[in-house]
Amino acid sequence: MISKKMEDALNKQIGMEAFASSAYLAMASWCDTEGYKGCASFMYAQAEEERVHMLKIVAYVNEVGGHALVSTIKEPQNSFKSLKEMFEETLGHEQAVTKSINKMVDMALTAKDFASNNFLQWFVAEQVEEESQVNGILDLLRLAGKDGRSMLLADREIGRMRSQAAAGEAK
Ligand SMILES: [Fe+2]
Ligand SMILES: [Fe+2]
Repeated sequence: MISKKMEDALNKQIGMEAFASSAYLAMASWCDTEGYKGCASFMYAQAEEERVHMLKIVAYVNEVGGHALVSTIKEPQNSFKSLKEMFEETLGHEQAVTKSINKMVDMALTAKDFASNNFLQWFVAEQVEEESQVNGILDLLRLAGKDGRSMLLADREIGRMRSQAAAGEAK
């Protein structure tokens, strides 16, 4: 049986993952309208991934005798000044998620809730991957600068990163 405190924290996390999913969907759509096809496919895939994260938590909360709750999420940002602004926004969100996951790990260890700690470790590893990926993209965009041709190449590269990650996951 899970503690009420941990249940509440995980339920809050469900909302965070749901928000990430809708924020990335909005980003994907914006990229589509701007002609950034690579970034659009990257973000559509990210939106799916965040939904999977959310479902993982829903399943866990119910499995350990809690009740996973769906809450209202705020409207995400739908337009951006640039790809750089969009990925900076993404990094900020991922960092907030990492902080939230770490806080729950701390909570689980303090309460000797080893099952929740074990469950959360998957997210710890996932956040390392996600933050590093977004940092890599921001580096790429910095290198590309504002030149249209370089941006096009960067967009393609970001689209490719996504399909490589998907191929890795399938292994
Ligand atoms: Fe996530
Ligand atoms: Fe994420």
